[in-house]
Amino acid sequence: MAQAAATEIMEDEAMIDPQDPRPESLPQRVWESIQRDELPPADDRGRMRVVMNNLVLHLHPSKVARPTLKFTYTWGLGGLAILLVALLVITGVMLMFVYTPSPETAYQDMLKLQTEVWFGQLVRNLHHWSGNLLVIVAFLHLLRVFFTGGFRTPREFNWVLGVALLLLVVAANFTGYLLPWDQLAYWAVTVGSSLLSYVTLVGEGLRSFLLGGPEVGAATLTNFYGLHVAIIPLTLMGIVSFHIWRVRKDTLSVPRRLDGTIDDLASAGSRSVEKVTTLPHLVARELAFALVMTGLILLWATWVDAPLEAAANPDHSPNPAKAAWYFMGLQELLLHFHPVFGAIVIPALALGALTLLPYQRFDLQAEGVWFRSRKGRIMAIVGAVFGLAGTVALVLVDEYALDLPRLLPSLPTIISNGWVPLAALLLLLLGYYAALRRAFKATACETRQSVFVLLVVSFVTLTVIGIAFRGEGMALMWPWEVWR
Ligand code: HEM
Repeated sequence: MAQAAATEIMEDEAMIDPQDPRPESLPQRVWESIQRDELPPADDRGRMRVVMNNLVLHLHPSKVARPTLKFTYTWGLGGLAILLVALLVITGVMLMFVYTPSPETAYQDMLKLQTEVWFGQLVRNLHHWSGNLLVIVAFLHLLRVFFTGGFRTPREFNWVLGVALLLLVVAANFTGYLLPWDQLAYWAVTVGSSLLSYVTLVGEGLRSFLLGGPEVGAATLTNFYGLHVAIIPLTLMGIVSFHIWRVRKDTLSVPRRLDGTIDDLASAGSRSVEKVTTLPHLVARELAFALVMTGLILLWATWVDAPLEAAANPDHSPNPAKAAWYFMGLQELLLHFHPVFGAIVIPALALGALTLLPYQRFDLQAEGVWFRSRKGRIMAIVGAVFGLAGTVALVLVDEYALDLPRLLPSLPTIISNGWVPLAALLLLLLGYYAALRRAFKATACETRQSVFVLLVVSFVTLTVIGIAFRGEGMALMWPWEVWR
């Protein structure tokens, strides 16, 4: 019997291919079947192979230009956006274990999270703050890309993908806003979705389609839930992957100094940029940054709770009923323009211009230079000052001194409070452009940048006015009166 077993083993061993290159030990063979490359890699070729063969790392190129590692060029904003998306997916899936999207249970589930579920409040806080931070980070990333000229050829289409991402991030926040089913959620979504009704012809239909009926109710909660947990995240993650793949294919723009020169040239007098392996130079920086940011977000979420007001009450509207903070710029516009203009024409014009921005003719030499040039920097400050002062002045004048529909009683309000003020503002902008270009003897590119700054600052100012300076009846007042 023993002899038969021994013979069998000998026969088995005789069948082992002596050429088999795999290691002797079983655990090592399993490990090598997962991780094929030598770790830690011995040389640059090994490092590049690890990046190419790794599912996550291969989204990077195997080598990057050394100057692009400079933190103050990208501020890590694109990477931070990815980290936030990851945090949102993880915490969102956790919340799904507790939450049921029905008006009877949604609010109770929020209370349960706060009181009964282990770390429930923390998970909700992390999800809430990461979502809000993502809106700000995506917006700041857009500004960084614009002010360093990172959208120029061949990166135009990646900018367009970015605009789609920004819209999706806002849509994800908006649909999530309703889910706690408290007063804040109910009325912010009622106000926010009412903006849709102003779209000519199809607006009402679109609104009822989104809400699942004439007003916010059980069907709205189901619709928003489906959009929030499935359709928007899947689309967002698909486009984010596409966006990052394009960054890899187009390569990141290279930072330059004001005189157009680049740090870290491959050698003195050379025009080519020094390249370093992605592992460890970029990956180590990304990991360190992600750890620090995760720590800070965790700290914030531990101390500051996500808001939760009383349960939704469709019969009692708060005064003022405000939209979510990222829509307050739009809500403020509605106070000054005919609704079709405030809710549709002006946002559509702004979005169209933003999307087509990279297809303008640009001064390619300024790519990678913050604010294009020294003159560009000064003109950007001028734009910011005009944007802030002009917006505050126009809001005050419209609030207290000017009543266009009363001044032009023979005209329909869509003209007196729509076409007329819009045409006046466009003329003012054209005048600003022409005067600035002449005064600074600037290029079209520098002047357009100043107009862009003016418009961005103006939008941010409107948002701040809406959030902090509008109180009961949406009247203008000081912040301490608003939050009394
Ligand atoms: C969820 C939102 C977004 C994510 C996750 C994301 C991610 C990234 C990452 C990781 C990079 C490379 C590193 C960096 O520049 O920081 C990048 C670059 C870029 N992004 Fe985004 N992005 C988002 C939104 C946007 C938006 C809103 C825009 C503009 C409308 C935009 C336009 C671009 C462009 C043009 C580049 C290449 C920049 C260059 O070469 O200098 N992205 N993005």
